[in-house]
Amino acid sequence: MGRLQGQVAIITGSGSGIGQGIAKRLASEGANIVINYVGHGEGAAETLKMVEAAGARGIVVQADVSEVEAVQSLVEKAWQEFGSADILVNNAGVETNTSFLDAKEEDFERIIGVNLKAPFFVTQAFVRKLAAEKKPGRIINISSVHEDMAFPGFATYCASKGGLRMLMRNLCVELGPLGITINNIAPGAIATPINKQLLEDKPKLDALLEQIPLGRLGTVEDVAALAAYLASEDAAYITGATYYVDGGLSRYYHEQ
Ligand code: BGC
Repeated sequence: MGRLQGQVAIITGSGSGIGQGIAKRLASEGANIVINYVGHGEGAAETLKMVEAAGARGIVVQADVSEVEAVQSLVEKAWQEFGSADILVNNAGVETNTSFLDAKEEDFERIIGVNLKAPFFVTQAFVRKLAAEKKPGRIINISSVHEDMAFPGFATYCASKGGLRMLMRNLCVELGPLGITINNIAPGAIATPINKQLLEDKPKLDALLEQIPLGRLGTVEDVAALAAYLASEDAAYITGATYYVDGGLSRYYHEQ
């Protein structure tokens, strides 16, 4: 029996990267998964195959999590299909590399919309359902080392992740009495599609690798293992914390 046997997890942005890795891992520990994506259905279909191969059930829900109405129907679908949900992973995230002076309003709105507004309203919809049933729950936000550290060229991204850090700390206090825990995972440089540009730029990648004490990029499995732990009974007394999964990057950082 897996640690999450019979539980249901909603994972935003689980058609690729870290979200897909978390879906696979939570399914392997027994959880059924609500897979969410916005752009490319193929990735979400691949995640569904992984979930089923792990012996769990999954559904795929297309929703732009930066839109409040879409978020409500995403959460509603979990209850319709599985009767309830126990775990929410706010994973969907976007970034652009743009100098502050060139930053555009539409990029600002998209990044804050996906990285900060979405966790706010998905969590609200999820907690409203739990509170109505007096059920406990687990919320895990995929943040970044940049919830705390500067990242030149990524001012909006940093603002969104800094906001996510304080949202988590505040909700830890508001949701604790409901038996709901909330924590952030702060990945460093993980090999996923969000890093495509970096992965294709060998000199830049080599320079970054020199600054990672463990000498390699992280994998989605590195992050997913921590998500599974935080979702499990083993982490029952943990709330309001950020966990770094960064190979030591944040202790020795000068990326640019
Ligand atoms: C960003 C990556 C970056 C990494 C380390 C992550 O949050 O998504 O683009 O390489 O932080 O700086």
